[in-house]
Amino acid sequence: MAQHVLVEKAEKLLVLTLNRPEKKNALTRAMYKILATEIANADADSDIRCILIMANGDMFTAGNDLADFAAVGAATSAPQPEDGNPLLPALAHARTPIVAAVNGRAVGIGVTMLLHCDMVYVANDASLITPFVNLALVPEAASSLLLPLRIGHARAFEMFVLGEPVSAEKAVSWGIANRAVAPAELHQIARATAVSIAARAPAAVVATKSLMRDEKVLLARMSEEGAHFARQLKTAEFKEAFTAFSERRAPDFSKFG
Ligand code: COA
Repeated sequence: MAQHVLVEKAEKLLVLTLNRPEKKNALTRAMYKILATEIANADADSDIRCILIMANGDMFTAGNDLADFAAVGAATSAPQPEDGNPLLPALAHARTPIVAAVNGRAVGIGVTMLLHCDMVYVANDASLITPFVNLALVPEAASSLLLPLRIGHARAFEMFVLGEPVSAEKAVSWGIANRAVAPAELHQIARATAVSIAARAPAAVVATKSLMRDEKVLLARMSEEGAHFARQLKTAEFKEAFTAFSERRAPDFSKFG
């Protein structure tokens, strides 16, 4: 099987590259597991001082694999703790700083994971899309808390509920990303920043990151969101949204509620 997440360790960096370009880097359970394990291991590895997340292909990620969502929605057994996405607690626990390089589109968790990254570079033709409500789902990764805090309620509601693309320029001016750069320079610039972070006093960097976030609050919100998310996956409105995606048509929610 092709390696859908490439893992490189060099220059005191852990570089995680999403590598499923034929499916627009849609994230499967197996990919989440690798990302979560590598992030957790980095915290315990004194040779890793910064994590860089980037992607091969023409977009960062199309978000969660929709077939995986549909399989969870169709399951008849009650949801188990291991059904949860392991990347979410890994991001909440992470002590090592994370830099992200976003090329092309970032969708769903491709955007919400950025709220857990410490520095974000976007290609100047990138766009960010959080189509949770368009899929009859709710925000995850504690983004229902973090996004309004970052960009204000009105913009966050617009992103979650209307799900329209946010340009790289807006992402920078709203404070989701640090800088928009030429697509050809994106990976090199993000990597240079990660190397620069890795050269700083390590204990001071880790303590600074930890002082800036409250892991307990993040985990509590993730759990609350997870309960709503699991409920929504079982609804007829989600089924309609998934079928519409498969049939390449707009969903029709007029018959619900
Ligand atoms: N899950 C599973 N497969 C996905 C996927 C996803 N989230 N996003 C794209 N793919 C697959 C497509 O089914 C297609 O597979 P195929 O070639 O076997 O038919 C392939 O990736 C290419 O996608 P395509 O839609 O043809 O690319 P595009 O450039 O026209 O559009 C997107 C790209 C991201 C706009 C579009 O694929 C999309 O809207 N995807 C769903 C995004 C989403 O809702 N994610 C969940 C967020 S919570």
